[in-house]
Amino acid sequence: MISARKTYIIANWKMNFTPGEASLYLHRLSNRIPAMRNVQVVLSPSLVSLQPLSLQINRRQFKLAAQNFYWQDYGAFTGEVSISQIRSFVDYAIVGHSERRYLFNESDKDIAQKVAAAIRNGLTPVLCIGETAEERRNGETSAAIYDQLIGGLSQVSEEDISKVIIAYEPVWAISSNKNARPAKPEDIKEAQLLIRRHISKLYGDETAMDLPILYGGSVNPSTAPGYLNIPGIDGLLVGNASLIADSFCAIVESAKGKYDER
Ligand code: 13P
Repeated sequence: MISARKTYIIANWKMNFTPGEASLYLHRLSNRIPAMRNVQVVLSPSLVSLQPLSLQINRRQFKLAAQNFYWQDYGAFTGEVSISQIRSFVDYAIVGHSERRYLFNESDKDIAQKVAAAIRNGLTPVLCIGETAEERRNGETSAAIYDQLIGGLSQVSEEDISKVIIAYEPVWAISSNKNARPAKPEDIKEAQLLIRRHISKLYGDETAMDLPILYGGSVNPSTAPGYLNIPGIDGLLVGNASLIADSFCAIVESAKGKYDER
């Protein structure tokens, strides 16, 4: 199949790897993952590894993403790092990850400010949204997704919405959760349609169709091909499995299969 759409495979390394380990791991990946036209591989290391890895990567092969940053560009904010301080190292910024929402109490307002800061600094925000197990049980999935979209995108204009990527990560499917279970393709298909319906109300039909939507939550080499086959899913945000070269390379390989690379 030939398509103009890109598939994104984003590795969220979370709080793993020292800068030295990250550099060795990148070296290993770069020997195995080629630069591709239709598949964008993005690595998201810890903040402390961003600068060294930005000097090491071939940007045609990989891009880097920040896992977190502060939304103000500069000032008296002891201990914080702004996106304007790291913008030359990265092309993407993960915003609104459930670990930040629930472990670090980030509000929709914080998230909206971070999305706006990423866009202001010329980066692509990857806005993570997804319902908790309880919200799902209570039939509140659509409302939770809507609230997070409205909240996270509240400062994004019609002109800038094309710079945003959405990652649907149901909290109950993320491997760091005690009772995590992988989402079924039907659940993801349905959530993806919900997201596009909400986006269509906010920004119109064309934007809703064009918006890249990724899935994240317990993705591994055996589930990745099925997830990537879901119509309307433009890629994967991978946690645990991105820390193991064989697993991550196999996931990237399944994205390659989505396209004719001629
Ligand atoms: P897992 O792939 O380990 O479930 O993590 C998903 C995630 O949180 C990616 O951002």
